[in-house]
Amino acid sequence: MQGLVLYCSKYGTSKAYAELIGEATGFTVCAAANARTVQSADAVILCGGVYAGKIAGLRLLKKNAAKLQGKKVAVFAAGLSPADEGTTAALKRNLTGGLAGIPLFYGRGAWKSGSLKTGDRFLCRLLHGMLAKKDASQYEEPWMQTFMESYGKDCDFTDRQYLLPLLEWLRS
Ligand SMILES: Cc1cc2nc3c(=O)[nH]c(=O)nc-3n(C[C@H](O)[C@H](O)[C@H](O)COP(=O)(O)O)c2cc1C
Repeated sequence: MQGLVLYCSKYGTSKAYAELIGEATGFTVCAAANARTVQSADAVILCGGVYAGKIAGLRLLKKNAAKLQGKKVAVFAAGLSPADEGTTAALKRNLTGGLAGIPLFYGRGAWKSGSLKTGDRFLCRLLHGMLAKKDASQYEEPWMQTFMESYGKDCDFTDRQYLLPLLEWLRS
């Protein structure tokens, strides 16, 4: 099987997961921004970081939804939120249009508060200010609690074990 692992990663976690998938499968690994075509691949996996509830890189899959028909296509999202049903249910809402129903896998990522890009630092400060005014019981999305707990800290929850369900699915 010819496969392509695309990644869309601001801070390197999704790229690292993509490379681990590449090692385990022999699939070609490539930044989504540099992907020329998905046509020749039988399997396409997108590894995307999660930012404010959105999975990065989905636009490329949406744009190519028609070409992806009949291929094995899945998304692996990396975020700080706990790996549980609430997180995956919320992230599945990103899979709309031609991507509705494709398998979504999830693994926890990492962040270094001190190394955030300027725009992200600004956004996070804004978000933190907004959420700090609410009681945790009023948070609308599962990621908000984790965001507040991680704000100002360095965290690394990456673990190759998160890839096992995806690798199992690829073999099935
Ligand atoms: C601006 C910003 C927003 C984020 N929003 C979320 C979020 O909504 N949910 C989540 O689980 N993690 C969130 N994170 C954490 C990232 O998903 C985590 O750092 C992930 O490892 C990023 O992937 P990357 O290293 O491939 O860029 C956010 C991080 C940043 C910088």
